[in-house]
Amino acid sequence: MFNKIKKINVLDRNKINYAELDKELKVELAILGGLDIFTSAHIIGVANNTQKICEAMDLDYETTKQCMLSAYLHDVGKIKIPSAILQKQERLTEEEYEIMKMHTIYGYEIVMGYDQFKYLAPIVRGHHENLDGSGYPDGLTDKEITEETKLIKIADIYDALTQKRQYKEGFAKSEAVEIILEDIRKGKTGAKYLYFLLISVIKELQETYNGDVTEYQKTKQDIETLKELDKIYKQIYDRGYTSSLSKKLDRYELAPGYDMTTNSNLLSRNISKLESLEKKLAEEKSEIEKLTWQSKEAYKLIKRREWNVKIFGKNAIW
Ligand SMILES: [Fe+2]
Ligand SMILES: [Fe+2]
Repeated sequence: MFNKIKKINVLDRNKINYAELDKELKVELAILGGLDIFTSAHIIGVANNTQKICEAMDLDYETTKQCMLSAYLHDVGKIKIPSAILQKQERLTEEEYEIMKMHTIYGYEIVMGYDQFKYLAPIVRGHHENLDGSGYPDGLTDKEITEETKLIKIADIYDALTQKRQYKEGFAKSEAVEIILEDIRKGKTGAKYLYFLLISVIKELQETYNGDVTEYQKTKQDIETLKELDKIYKQIYDRGYTSSLSKKLDRYELAPGYDMTTNSNLLSRNISKLESLEKKLAEEKSEIEKLTWQSKEAYKLIKRREWNVKIFGKNAIW
């Protein structure tokens, strides 16, 4: 009844157009109509993370589609949870938590009501299960939990931990990963999908970092130019306009009305921009280093616990 991801074919990365796939999914999911699953930032976050994992694993089209649909549907049962509980800012009481847990069963029931999505119902039901049987609603263990469910679970926890909510600040990426690694060490969660998520997250962060380095260099150059201009303006201020100073100014193709004050404002703005970029770059660099270390840790944990997984280069086959 339910297809497990058994063998993953090595695919050409460019074969799947993820944006197109996403559009297609939304058309298929439109049948849910009033359930309004696309407006929640969490759902979109989980779908994005799911895509990242699928992409890093080079999963085939059908599996990717199945995982993406599950990401969109995984919390659909929450529409039956009273909003007083759903939006509560303080910690839930035990009783409220029990009600909250029901979203897995409600979601299962909703999804079972649609012939075309029925096959995803076990993923929706199982996305809070743990490998050691400590999860809910059925207390399933490792072998009873499908690979897609394990994948969605990582995408789900990572989003829940990193995203800012109205009542909490999100954790930094590496802090969130550390929390997930703790669960993995306890045997609650598998490391495989975290590893692939990390590959994607690191790649993305590296791109941001490279972009910021370019921005940093450009700002540095701008500051040099603004300093040169500042010097010229000071000379003009001291000695008045001379033809050689006017010529020097002409080289800069300044906008009409540009003057000494504009220049010094721009200079101080760029200096503080440089400072904040410097800080940002240092943070990004340290995040990349931490995440890289954590991805190595996740890889070690895969080899130790999920011994049946073979990783060949960038592609996974199991
Ligand atoms: Fe959930
Ligand atoms: Fe969720």
